[in-house]
Amino acid sequence: MLAPFFVLLSLSLIIGSYEQNVNSIVAIGDSFTGAGSGGGVTKSYPIVAGNILRWPAVNYAKGGAVMKDIPGQLVKAASALASATHVVFTIGGNDLGVANSLLQVILANNITGVTQKAKSLKPQLVSTYNRIKAAVRPQTKIYAVAYVDFISVGNKIPNEASCHKIMDILTDTIKEATQEAGIAFIESVKTCFVGHEMFSSEPFVDSLFASTNAAHPNSKGYAKIGELVAAHLLLDQ
Ligand SMILES: *[C@@H]1O[C@H](CO)[C@@H](O)[C@H](O)[C@H]1NC(C)=O
Repeated sequence: MLAPFFVLLSLSLIIGSYEQNVNSIVAIGDSFTGAGSGGGVTKSYPIVAGNILRWPAVNYAKGGAVMKDIPGQLVKAASALASATHVVFTIGGNDLGVANSLLQVILANNITGVTQKAKSLKPQLVSTYNRIKAAVRPQTKIYAVAYVDFISVGNKIPNEASCHKIMDILTDTIKEATQEAGIAFIESVKTCFVGHEMFSSEPFVDSLFASTNAAHPNSKGYAKIGELVAAHLLLDQ
């Protein structure tokens, strides 16, 4: 009597697992991908995107990671990468030292120095992207995700527009490096906090001066980035 039920059950399990395993996301990189410097990884944008798409997603990104940490992350993620269809990441922000660079601009108006430092990262970005390419299957899609513009162009902090400019230069440098390495770049994330910047009435990012998670997206911010990344991966099949 129970047999037909079990046949149906196992059939639906097979179909279910087949559907779920066609696509999968592996995330690597720094705290912007790993859910801030104080948060847990459950709310990070790759996990949000995976939940929306119903694709399995695992996150190997780590707070404080710089480009030279990527080879180690690729080793840790090797078994997930062997079947991953999509790799998403942010890296380079800590090599620039975004928070310190912004403070350099806010406090010392040192735009020239910070700009030069951001632009000088390009060759290392290209070689880091090539390391990632070498660690995945040829058909796996690799996406560098833009750092979000979390500083508006108003005058809520000193030299705020210059801070914004630094983020533009970092983004442009990353974009050029992705083109050189032949990987994708999710640029739309850059502007997805418009109206919700730091010091706005409903910020999607914690303050530069917060004791934990400073200058990182909050859960609303990660939900927003996750939605955008999910839409991007879905449309780019
Ligand atoms: C300006 O910033 C650059 C890059 O961070 C740094 O190397 C340099 O020492 C800074 N200059 C001053 C005067 O603080």
